[in-house]
Amino acid sequence: AKEVRIGLLGLGTVGTGVVSIISRHQEELRHQVGCPVTIKKVLVRNLDKKRDIELDDSVVTDQIEDVLFDQDIDVIIEVMGGVETTKEHLLTALRNGKHVVTANKDLMAIYGAELLKVAAEHNCDVYYEASVAGGIPILRSLSDGLSADRITKMMGIVNGTTNYILTKMTQNGSSYEEVLTQAQELGFAESDPTADVEGLDAARKMAILATLGFSMNVSLDDVTVKGISSVTKTDLDYCDQLGYTMKLIGLAKRDEGRVEVSVEPTLLPKDHPLASVHNEYNAVYVYGEAVGETMFYGPGAGSLPTATAVVSDLVSVMKNMRLGVCGRAVQEPLHQRVMKQANE
Ligand code: NAP
Ligand code: HSE
Repeated sequence: AKEVRIGLLGLGTVGTGVVSIISRHQEELRHQVGCPVTIKKVLVRNLDKKRDIELDDSVVTDQIEDVLFDQDIDVIIEVMGGVETTKEHLLTALRNGKHVVTANKDLMAIYGAELLKVAAEHNCDVYYEASVAGGIPILRSLSDGLSADRITKMMGIVNGTTNYILTKMTQNGSSYEEVLTQAQELGFAESDPTADVEGLDAARKMAILATLGFSMNVSLDDVTVKGISSVTKTDLDYCDQLGYTMKLIGLAKRDEGRVEVSVEPTLLPKDHPLASVHNEYNAVYVYGEAVGETMFYGPGAGSLPTATAVVSDLVSVMKNMRLGVCGRAVQEPLHQRVMKQANE
């Protein structure tokens, strides 16, 4: 079978993990999809930056056109971040018949519906598993495993940086500034960590979860948000003495046609299962009318866990390419909603 060629946008925390998994797991990938995977081009901002990963000079570029307009590239993997310009790049890629895999929740929470619509018009896929809860396959579970059910509520910890900060401040007595720096060094935080600590990153993820889980277009404006930047060590000490643990909790629930989505610091009894989700780990409870309560748990940020989700999306795209189909179930709720709105 023909090889599948990748254009990778970004070679930071997640991009490095993607290159590592694709090169180390060639055997597994070939087994899954029946053909080799090659990284044809990699876009970076700074060609002179020292990197942990070695790539041929001819592969790395700082010119987006080298990737977007390379006729040989089948799939664009976007792990560089950004919203407006990145959206335009991905729309160009889709219009040129390239499939897209992205880890970008900022982008998907705002422009997901538009990207999926354009993808469908051009018989292309857009997959975005890594945009929510890092290595936990939560989007797949909502759109595949739980697709027969009616989801009524989702609740959980969906930001690794803030969970890392709250964990270390509680357990080690570390200062807020000290642990935020650690979270940045470990690659958990966004390039501007304001989105993490002010709850916006979690809000974007909750909007994506609610859109998929409830099959309706839930936007960021629908989410009430409060972050952890004003939480002090004294607050956490009081919580501890009273038998509680503080977590940044995302909650999405629907009742009849009404949907409520929020992100806020929440006191949980110490024996609550979410109270023992520590460091960068995430966990999401999903309540379905038929299934009852399910819980998904795993690493919510970091290079290899996130890259696992990205490369799994790549596998899905490649399977679709082999079958000559696209637009698997993960796209449908958003897309149907957008088409319906467009026809109204
Ligand atoms: P990062 O470490 O800052 O890496 C970003 C990469 O993109 C860098 O290689 C950078 O180039 C390149 N880049 C950024 N802007 C560019 C531009 N305008 N032109 C060319 N190259 C550009 O970021 P990251 O942590 O890997 O995150 C990437 C994306 O994944 C973001 O959307 C993030 O929200 C998402 N995500 C991250 C995690 C995580 O745990 N880190 C988890 C889930 C999702 P240089 O190397 O030359 O600077
Ligand atoms: N900054 C994000 C977090 C990365 O800490 O959860 C994973 O989406």
